[in-house]
Amino acid sequence: MDYSEFSGFLLGRCSVREFDPEPLADEDITSVVAAAQLAPSAGNLEAWDVVVVTDEDARQAMSDAAFGQAHVAEAPALFVVCANYIRSMSQYGERGILYAVEDATIACTYMMLAARARGLSSCWTGAFEEDEVREYLGLPAHIRPLAILAVGKSSAPVRRAEHMDIENHLHYNTW
Ligand SMILES: Cc1cc2nc3c(=O)[nH]c(=O)nc-3n(C[C@H](O)[C@H](O)[C@H](O)COP(=O)(O)O)c2cc1C
Repeated sequence: MDYSEFSGFLLGRCSVREFDPEPLADEDITSVVAAAQLAPSAGNLEAWDVVVVTDEDARQAMSDAAFGQAHVAEAPALFVVCANYIRSMSQYGERGILYAVEDATIACTYMMLAARARGLSSCWTGAFEEDEVREYLGLPAHIRPLAILAVGKSSAPVRRAEHMDIENHLHYNTW
C-alpha cells in the first residue's frame, strides 16, 4: 500500500451514528479483535481487554450509561475496550496505569480501522458513566472501560467532520 492508498483509507473513515440493525458476522467480530492484537503495547503485555456486546438489552443498557446516546443502542455490536491495570502494573508499577490506558487506546484505534477495512462503520464513544458500564458488564475493579466502540453498517450518507489545520498541532524541535 502506498501513502495515497493509506491516506484514502483514513479519509474514508468518519464517525457514524446511524446504523443498519443487521448483526455483524462472527468473522467481522473476530477480525476486529484480532487486529487489536497486532497493535504495539508496553512490554508486549497487551494490557487491554474487550467485551463484545451484541445483546439488545445490553446495548440499551450501554446506551443508558452513555447518557442516552442513541447510536450506542442502535449499533449491532459494541466493543467495550478496557484497560487492564493489573496486567501492566505487575511489571511497571504505577507507570503501568498509564501504559494500560495507552495500550487500550491503541487497541481501540486498531479495532476502529479494522472495522473500516471490513466495510463497516464505527463511532468511538467515550462519554459514559463508567460505574454503570462496570456494574452491568460485571467488570472487576482492575479493569477500566475506556471506550465503547459502536460498530455496524452505516444506514445514512456519511459526512466527514472538519478537522484542524496541521499547523495547530505541529512543532519543530521546540514548542
Ligand atoms: C476519546 C473519544 C471520545 C469520543 N466520544 C464520543 C461520544 O461520546 N459520542 C460521540 O458521538 N462521538 C464521540 N467521539 C467521536 C468524535 O466526536 C469524532 O471522532 C470527532 O468529532 C471527529 O469526527 P470523525 O471521527 O468523523 O473524524 C469520541 C472520539 C474520541 C476519540
